[in-house]
Amino acid sequence: MHVKLGALQRGHRNRIREILDATSVFRDDEVAVALELFDESFASGPARAPYDPGDGVANYEFVGSFSPDGELVGYVCYGATPGTDRTYDLYWIATHPRFQGGGAGTLLLDEVERRLRQREARLIVVETSSRADYAPTRHFYEVRGYARAAVVKDYYAPVDDRAIYTKRL
Ligand SMILES: CC(C)(COP(=O)(O)OP(=O)(O)OC[C@H]1O[C@@H](n2cnc3c(N)ncnc32)[C@H](O)[C@@H]1OP(=O)(O)O)[C@@H](O)C(=O)NCCC(=O)NCCS
Repeated sequence: MHVKLGALQRGHRNRIREILDATSVFRDDEVAVALELFDESFASGPARAPYDPGDGVANYEFVGSFSPDGELVGYVCYGATPGTDRTYDLYWIATHPRFQGGGAGTLLLDEVERRLRQREARLIVVETSSRADYAPTRHFYEVRGYARAAVVKDYYAPVDDRAIYTKRL
């Protein structure tokens, strides 16, 4: 399937919720946080102007992946990490399960990296869980050059560690 990249709009909110729910790895409170970031960015029309390195405020940028018939199949949310020198957080990435394994996630990740290289970003940080159901996600990052930089034991819950991956650009 040919997936293409595109901008997200306010009207995509319900579809994003559907995608996050359908992955079945995110808890309800995590879905709520993901939607809060979306709302913060899209509440009054289009997304805020991208990254202002000087403002010290987290800024969330989004990219969508779309099927040939224009259906949103996944998205990524990332942003400059306040208080750092060109470090960026990849906050969220998800592909609807019906479309997983079709290249949408790679397309999104490549696009984020392309944009950040243009900005001379230095480091991308992504956090994920050590749970077994996240094994394919960890594999996804590892194969794409993300190295496990740290593990915070029992961070999310007992026996659910926070695994921090980084990639230098
Ligand atoms: C991780 C994720 C974004 C990857 O998106 P995707 O569109 O399936 O990615 P692609 O098709 O480009 O790449 C597939 C790769 O991801 C891995 N992968 C992860 N989950 C997969 C799944 N459910 N089905 C198929 N491949 C999956 C595969 O191992 C594959 O690796 P390979 O290219 O070395 O074979 C997506 O699987 C997803 O939404 N997972 C659930 C949500 C999640 O964990 N998000 C990250 C939170 S930190």
